[in-house]
Amino acid sequence: MKFQHKAGRGAVKIRFISGSLNRFDGKTLSVGIGQGDTLKPGLSKVSPLTRREFVLVMRKVVATAKANKIKSIAVSFTDLKSLAPKDMGDYEIGRVAGTAFVMADYEHNTYKTKPKEGWGQIEIAAILKTPDEGQEGFADGLTIATEVNATRELANTPAGDMTPKTLAAAAKKAAKGTGVKVKSLGMKEMQKLGMGAIVGVGKGAQVEPEFIIMEYWGAAKKDKPVVLIGKGVTFDSGGLQAKGGDHMYEMHMDMSGGAAVIHSVVLAAKLKLKVNVVGLIPAVENTTGPQSMRPGDILKSLSGKTIEILHTDAEGRVILADAITYAKRYNPAIVADVATLTGAALTAFGEQAVAFMTNDSSMIMDFMDLAEESGDYMWPMPLWKEYDYIVKGRFADVPNVPATGNSRYAGVIGGGKFLEVFAKELDCPWIHLDIAPKMTAAPDEYLAKGAAGSPVRFFLSLMEKYADSDKN
Ligand code: BES
Ligand code: MN
Ligand code: ZN
Repeated sequence: MKFQHKAGRGAVKIRFISGSLNRFDGKTLSVGIGQGDTLKPGLSKVSPLTRREFVLVMRKVVATAKANKIKSIAVSFTDLKSLAPKDMGDYEIGRVAGTAFVMADYEHNTYKTKPKEGWGQIEIAAILKTPDEGQEGFADGLTIATEVNATRELANTPAGDMTPKTLAAAAKKAAKGTGVKVKSLGMKEMQKLGMGAIVGVGKGAQVEPEFIIMEYWGAAKKDKPVVLIGKGVTFDSGGLQAKGGDHMYEMHMDMSGGAAVIHSVVLAAKLKLKVNVVGLIPAVENTTGPQSMRPGDILKSLSGKTIEILHTDAEGRVILADAITYAKRYNPAIVADVATLTGAALTAFGEQAVAFMTNDSSMIMDFMDLAEESGDYMWPMPLWKEYDYIVKGRFADVPNVPATGNSRYAGVIGGGKFLEVFAKELDCPWIHLDIAPKMTAAPDEYLAKGAAGSPVRFFLSLMEKYADSDKN
C-alpha cells in the first residue's frame, strides 16, 4: 500500500456510517461503525471512538475495501479526526491509522498461485486534507506496519523453509542498509562460550542452532542499551516428549518472538530512534533425534547454573536462560524477553492479551500504558515468592518444569519464575512477555489469518520511552 495526500483518479471515497452496514455503490464505500461489531454497540452517530475502536475501524476500512475488490481508496483526514479520541494529536492519528491500514492489508499468500486478477491488496490510499504532522504520522505508520508485517511473514513461513540458519539470514537481510550490525554464533562458538542450555535443546535436530545478535547504536555509545530477547524455536515438536498431533500444528510460529525482535531492532534504525538497542535471538529446532535431550538430562547454562530437563517440551525458557545471561555483557538499561512460551497463557487470556511479568513492580503501570498506547494489549501476572517452589531444584539448580506440586497449576507464572532465576543476575529491570496468546490474530480484529506480529508495536513504544529519557 502507498499513501498519497491528493486524490487519484478512480479512488473510492470512504464514508463512515452508524450501524453495521457496509455498502459499495460504485464510487463510495460506506463502512459501518457499531452493531454487530466488537465496536460501539448501537452507536447512533459517528462520534469519537476509543483508541481501541479507532484502530479496529481503520482496519475495517481496508478489510471492507478488499472484500469489495477495491484497489484505491480516498479518506478525509477530517473524518479520521472526528472519529479519533480527542486526546490524539494529528501525528498520532496519522501514525495509528497508517499502521492499522497497512497491517490490515497484509496477507500471507507467498505459497499460493497468483490469481489472474492479482492479489486483493489495496494499492493506493489517498488521505485528503492531511496536515503536515498527519502526513508524518502516516509515513511512520507505513514504516511501523511494514516491519510488523515482515514479522508476520517470517513467523508464517513453514518450518521446512525456516531453520535457525534461515532466520539468521533473514535478520541480516532485514538489517541491510539500516546500520544495524548482525552476527550469528553457530554450534561450535556456543559450545566454546558455554551456552549449554541452547546447545542442549538444539543438538537433537538435523539443523544446527544459531545465536543471532543484532546491534543498533542510535545514541551515544555510553548510553545503556535496551536489550530485546526473542524465542526463536523454528519448530517445536515437543522433543522426545512429543506434542500430540493436534498441538504440533502452528509450531512453525514458535519463533514469533525472535521474528518480532529482529524487526523491532530494524524498526528502531528505520525510525532513527535516539536509543541503543540490542536484539538477541536463540534459534533452535526442538525435535527428536539420536542426540535429543532426554527427560532427566542436566544442562549447564552460560550462567553456570545447571538445569534439569523434566519436560523436553518446556524448551523455550531453557534457550532464553542463556540469552538473558548473555545480555549482561551489554550492561542494559532494561531487558525484555518475548516468547510463545506457554499454552497456559492462551488458556488464561484467550487470543486477546499478552501475559507479562516483571521483576520491577513499580513499572507495571508504565508497561500497561505503553501496551495500551501501542495496540499490543497485555496484562500482568505475579512473580511472588510464594511461587518459588516452582524453581526448586532436585538434582540440578533449577528444573525446567516444577519438580513438585500440580504441574497444571500456574503454568504461565512457572515460565516467568524460571526466567527470573537468570534475570536475577541482571542489574536492571526485566520484563517477560508470554505472547502465546497473540501468536496468531484473533478472529474479530480485522487481520489476516496467521501470525499477528506481536509485540513489535509495544517494543517500539518501549524503545521510544528509553529514547526520550535519554534526552532528559
Ligand atoms: N511453544 C510452546 C507453547 C505454545 C503452545 C505456544 C501453544 C503457542 C501455542 C512451548 O514450548 C510449550 O510447549 N510449552 C509447554 C510447557 C509445559 C511443558 C510446561 C506447554 O505449554 O504445554
Ligand atoms: Mn515446547
Ligand atoms: Zn515452544
